[in-house]
Amino acid sequence: MTCHTFASSGPLRGSMGIPGDKSISHRALMFAGLAVGRSTITGLLEGEDVLATAAAMRQFGAQISRGPDGAWTVDGAGVGSLLEPRTALDMGNSGTSTRLLMGLVASHAITATFVGDASLSGRPMKRVIDPLMQMGAGIEATSGGTLPLMMRGANPAVPITYRLPVASAQVKSAVLLAGLNTPGITRVIEPVPTRDHTERMLAGFGAQLEVSEEQGERVIAIHGEADLKPMDVTVPGDPSSAAFFMVAASLVPGSDLVIRNVGLNPTRAGLLTILRQMGADITEIDSREVGGEPVADLRVRHANLTGIAVDPAIAPAMIDEFPVLFVAAALAKGTTRTSGLEELRVKESDRLAAMAAALTLAGARVEEHEDGLTIHGTGGDPLPGTPPGEHVATRLDHRIAMSMAIAGLVSRDGVSIDDTAPINTSFPTFMNLLAEAAR
Ligand code: S3P
Repeated sequence: MTCHTFASSGPLRGSMGIPGDKSISHRALMFAGLAVGRSTITGLLEGEDVLATAAAMRQFGAQISRGPDGAWTVDGAGVGSLLEPRTALDMGNSGTSTRLLMGLVASHAITATFVGDASLSGRPMKRVIDPLMQMGAGIEATSGGTLPLMMRGANPAVPITYRLPVASAQVKSAVLLAGLNTPGITRVIEPVPTRDHTERMLAGFGAQLEVSEEQGERVIAIHGEADLKPMDVTVPGDPSSAAFFMVAASLVPGSDLVIRNVGLNPTRAGLLTILRQMGADITEIDSREVGGEPVADLRVRHANLTGIAVDPAIAPAMIDEFPVLFVAAALAKGTTRTSGLEELRVKESDRLAAMAAALTLAGARVEEHEDGLTIHGTGGDPLPGTPPGEHVATRLDHRIAMSMAIAGLVSRDGVSIDDTAPINTSFPTFMNLLAEAAR
């Protein structure tokens, strides 16, 4: 465990790049690994979660290497031709790797074992086990429906129409990936839209996929026994990583920061909308498209934020950004109320409990409810900070660590966190970029 204290900082200034999008990086490796021929990926996020996906795809038979220029080359194994892994697949902290790769295994005649760290081993897998078993896979997990689990894929698998019981891009993607090697058409019905990177990128790799709307719900249909063609993918910057700097520059007086190349897919851009509703000063510069995704540079200047009631309907479009939004709320004028956030309890940690405890320890006024937090902001005054000798518990959760690092920048006595190591799962350059921007 690497303990660290984040002290109050001067203004964040200059122009910074951010690492590649985590969701898109996982998918780029998986789909390239399923194509026949050579794909290249530029801008891949080289965080632990994505490297776990790369290691698993190698075990399935894809050849993956990183060039000296940072571009990755993938020679795919082909849909239907995955090899059986020789050892257990170590998914580390990564729910996305686990759930999407379970989808891949489900329709191949191979057996695979999935293991992970203490955080991942507490997360619910029944949400993917259920549809994948309906498609014919055999799956043995713990009695609580968690890792470690062993699965035997079905070949041929059975196409299903699956209506998502929870708004989850991971569950949607697991079923669609299983559908790639399943005869016929596999359909997923989404009552609430979630991030659509799988749909966008699979179409780019040549999969036959149709998206339609029926009675106000999104229906995604994938044609099975697909032949994926190799492709060159450019990964845009991760809006979930940019989020920490958007909030930091909004909160620290005198800040004027440009964050370059931020992915602004509407299914991911909820934090931008909510920060603007709170009074943030964020402008989009040079809006463009990168790798089939909308992207812009964001210029973020300090602003006085005001608390709001956050519409729960926006939650899927900013599901990973609530921890850092709670920090913004703790410094805003007035009260911020959030609701409809039950899913936050089953992320890398219980993010409602973890952030309520962390912000309270740093001196914020927070009430925890079953489905959200109510936060009474300081109106811009710094938080007191963590008491001497006490540390925020990060609970193996990168986003708790980084959110509380930002809280430290706007604290009187600094915020000490018990472990910075989880940051490496999604944002290995965070500490350096923070030091540079707040120099
Ligand atoms: C992700 C989907 C979301 C998100 C996670 C990445 C993805 O999870 O929280 O960080 O890449 O599909 P859920 O599907 O559990 O909402």
